[in-house]
Amino acid sequence: MTGAEEHPLPAEVLAAVREARRILVLTGAGMSAESGIATFRDAQTGLWEEFDPMRLATPEAWAEDPAFVWAWYAWRMHLVRAVEPNAGHRAIAELGRLREVSIATQNVDDLHERAGSSVAAHVHGSIFDLRCSDCGAPFVGEPELPEEPVERLDPPTCPECGGDVRPGVVWFGEMLPEDAVAATEAALEALEPGDVCLVVGTSGLVFPAAGYPAMARSEGATVIEVNPVETEISDMCHHVVRGSAAQVLPRIVAALG
Ligand code: APR
Repeated sequence: MTGAEEHPLPAEVLAAVREARRILVLTGAGMSAESGIATFRDAQTGLWEEFDPMRLATPEAWAEDPAFVWAWYAWRMHLVRAVEPNAGHRAIAELGRLREVSIATQNVDDLHERAGSSVAAHVHGSIFDLRCSDCGAPFVGEPELPEEPVERLDPPTCPECGGDVRPGVVWFGEMLPEDAVAATEAALEALEPGDVCLVVGTSGLVFPAAGYPAMARSEGATVIEVNPVETEISDMCHHVVRGSAAQVLPRIVAALG
């Protein structure tokens, strides 16, 4: 018996996607898990095992010890460069060729883009969009990335002002990028009854992104969650598909053909 037979996709899910004019795809860390990038809440292995991500991904942690925080992000950048988009990313790119699709992701990697999608919003920033933590100037150089995890690594120096260069991610307590918020809101407002919001691989714990599925629902869209386990948002979704992104999304897209 194949996985597909064990977990048939609900007919209502396929019908909703087939009939949708627009599809808003909201993705979180689970989207990239099968590419080999541990989800945020599972990412604390090895050197960083005993560090709470809530403490590493903060402006306070950066102010206290930039070399410690940079080492963690430099290793994450190395990991992202080393992996490939998975079948789920590729399915969403294919969906974009078949339907009007907008993607708003919480992920700071570039795997949707590398699969061929154009991403409307990186709501938590992009890890490779480096900028000076003092003057804000974009940093265009190629930072040196470690081949192995290291505990400390000096961040690059801003050529404009000599400040420390930081990753372009949104840390806890920081504002979301205005352009990403505007693009997400525009995509949400464009939804109409009969459209679909696919919510893939997010725990629904971090706001405001965790509120987007409910906003899609209030626009009249059919909200479908793809996640192997129950989450904070499962209850408000019209349909839940319990499976992984790389297993479920290609089957949804194949059913459109
Ligand atoms: N396919 C689909 N979903 C998966 C898979 C998979 N292969 N593997 C794991 N998941 C699900 C998990 O069940 C979980 O619900 O992905 C979700 C990952 O949750 P988090 O690690 O909390 O990721 P996310 O929701 O994106 O976190 C939000 O928190 O730390 C911040 O800025 C960070 O963007 C991140 C945000």
